[in-house]
Amino acid sequence: MEYAEVVRRRRMVRNYDPDRPVPPEIVDRLLGYAVHAPSAGFSQGWGFLVLDTPETVEDFWAATTKGDTKDSWLQGMQRAPVIVVPHSNRDAYLDRYAEPDKGRTDRDEARWPIPYWHIDTGFASLLMLLGAIDEGLGACFFGIPPDALPAYRKTFGVPDEYTPIGAITIGYRAPDRRSPSLRRGRREVADVTHRGRWGGRH
Ligand SMILES: Cc1cc2nc3c(=O)[nH]c(=O)nc-3n(C[C@H](O)[C@H](O)[C@H](O)COP(=O)(O)O)c2cc1C
Repeated sequence: MEYAEVVRRRRMVRNYDPDRPVPPEIVDRLLGYAVHAPSAGFSQGWGFLVLDTPETVEDFWAATTKGDTKDSWLQGMQRAPVIVVPHSNRDAYLDRYAEPDKGRTDRDEARWPIPYWHIDTGFASLLMLLGAIDEGLGACFFGIPPDALPAYRKTFGVPDEYTPIGAITIGYRAPDRRSPSLRRGRREVADVTHRGRWGGRH
């Protein structure tokens, strides 16, 4: 598929065909795209938890939700046969930038006004989202509720230094409802672009 079409077609999909598994080689290809993401200092401080069996997917939902069977969002999302949880690792960046070629002598987090560990893991996530479209799949990036994090970590043995930045459901699309957020409309390029100086007309 052409890149422009992949971008145009990308949208978050919140309902999946539960009877159509995702071939493991496709999941591997998506992970292969993820590790091609750019990263500050080529730190690559990320880790991806792949849940691709009914048991592990069920464990994810049990750990991260209250199991509200009437929740239509949850019903659709739970039909996804695969979940990939992208994690960022701040320590990998602090360590990397303390290496001789970067010249920092300390691991001071104050030098990081923008947490690139989250940014880079977000870049990797987007490559997976776009790759899913290219493979004819649907995917949705969504947040894990903060109060569910301890249970999530415990269930899957996630080390402390890794932070899940969200989670991605992946599967073949089933009809779903458009997100109410989309009523906000997409902002025009001209509204968000400043030429030459802030406020400069597009
Ligand atoms: C960082 C981030 C967090 C998001 N969290 C959720 C979420 O928790 N639940 C959900 O259904 N969608 C979530 N979304 C999807 C957005 O609602 C969606 O991207 C937005 O409404 C635009 O729709 P589109 O991606 O289908 O074009 C999230 C998207 C991003 C980028």
